[in-house]
Amino acid sequence: MVRQGQERDLLAQRSARRRAATTLTVAGDKSITHRALLCALIQDGPLEISGANLGGAVSALFGPMAMLGRPVSTTPNGVRVGDAAAGTRPVLDVGGSSAAARMLIGVLAGQGRKAIVDGSPQLRARPFSWVVDPLRELGASISYLGPEGGLPVSIGSGVYRPGRVRLSVGSAQARSAVLMAAVAARLPVEIEYPVLSRDHTERLLSWMGADIVRDGGTRLRYGGGSLRPVGSIAIPGDPSLAAYPVAAALVSEQVESLTIADVCLNSTRTGIFDVLIRAGVGIRYEAVREDYGESVGNVVVQGGLDGAVPVEVADAFTFHSLIDEVPLLASLATCIRGTSTIGPAHELTFKETDRIVTTAAMTAAFGGQLVTAAGSLSVTGGGPIAAATVDSFGDHRIAMSAATLGCRFHDRTTVVAGGCHRTSFPGFAEALNHAGGEVREA
Ligand code: S3P
Repeated sequence: MVRQGQERDLLAQRSARRRAATTLTVAGDKSITHRALLCALIQDGPLEISGANLGGAVSALFGPMAMLGRPVSTTPNGVRVGDAAAGTRPVLDVGGSSAAARMLIGVLAGQGRKAIVDGSPQLRARPFSWVVDPLRELGASISYLGPEGGLPVSIGSGVYRPGRVRLSVGSAQARSAVLMAAVAARLPVEIEYPVLSRDHTERLLSWMGADIVRDGGTRLRYGGGSLRPVGSIAIPGDPSLAAYPVAAALVSEQVESLTIADVCLNSTRTGIFDVLIRAGVGIRYEAVREDYGESVGNVVVQGGLDGAVPVEVADAFTFHSLIDEVPLLASLATCIRGTSTIGPAHELTFKETDRIVTTAAMTAAFGGQLVTAAGSLSVTGGGPIAAATVDSFGDHRIAMSAATLGCRFHDRTTVVAGGCHRTSFPGFAEALNHAGGEVREA
């Protein structure tokens, strides 16, 4: 049988050869690319997005954007959003991307555009009340066409009531959807939220001229008013992707030093690096600057995990700043002597897979000791672990974390259906091959 794309296995082992100091870049930030595309729906005129992430989760938006009259074409260094005729009451299928679906619902509710938003069977089962409830509070008419709380949803009319909404979850997608709806409708809105998670939407819209005032860590106000037209934007490297070669360098110890250049260093995203730095790991930031409203710089890593103390993630801000890196952090913790704890992590239940369950299964396959209790993960590291055959469960973060841990061993690790890394990380194997690993698709 010829296996293609997502279904292909990933094979990973430690490189036999030690590398000199190496610099590389990773694909553009997925979250900022999603937001830039969706902002193109709100503003008039073409938008050039250089450095765009072109993984499956982002390209899932291209079909819906074309149906909404904003076709996306690839350019030598990113994408261009143009203009075309829009469909009436289109059915917009965003595949498996929750970020695309939730924020798109926000934009459509802001514009009062009639449309149906749908996605893959896995996405249909994920929670959409996080977005639909606050948009309904602002007056939007949105109905569930299937089971209550899931996709598909039909947007009938838009938000029109100014006011305050209080979000029940820390999800950045939920907060972004409400903010995008407000900005698209020019509707003054105050949003309260339980914890500050990634804040790219606020930064991008402010950079585009939106009147957004942030009050402490858990409240923001948008005052109405329009955006200035923007012709181009550059997307920095994705810290959630940079984390894999950084981790591969740490577990393989086969590279003198590794620099990942031009990475987004927004502190709502750099949790994995920050907790590792606190644990004594040799990671530092260099050449930090501001670009398009985001902090950008280089991540440099040297050495391994031998002298590190256990990592601890105990508060909601830190958890959200590494929410997508929990499987990777858990696999690193299997190499750190002592017990590392990551929690409260119950929101992982709602990811592409139940990532508390799949992270536990992935680390157990290598012989790691992970226990879960009350939504937290405890990993006791330093015991014997070895190369393994590991299921990806079709989840890109599990696949990439397993292949990265596989770079520790001379024996080969097989990540079954590890090709799902394409969802977010074009160039994954090449990046790990610069970081002391030997990774390829079967
Ligand atoms: C994302 C937010 C997070 C994250 C996801 C991307 C975003 O999800 O896990 O990969 O782009 O806003 P939640 O908002 O559901 O926490």
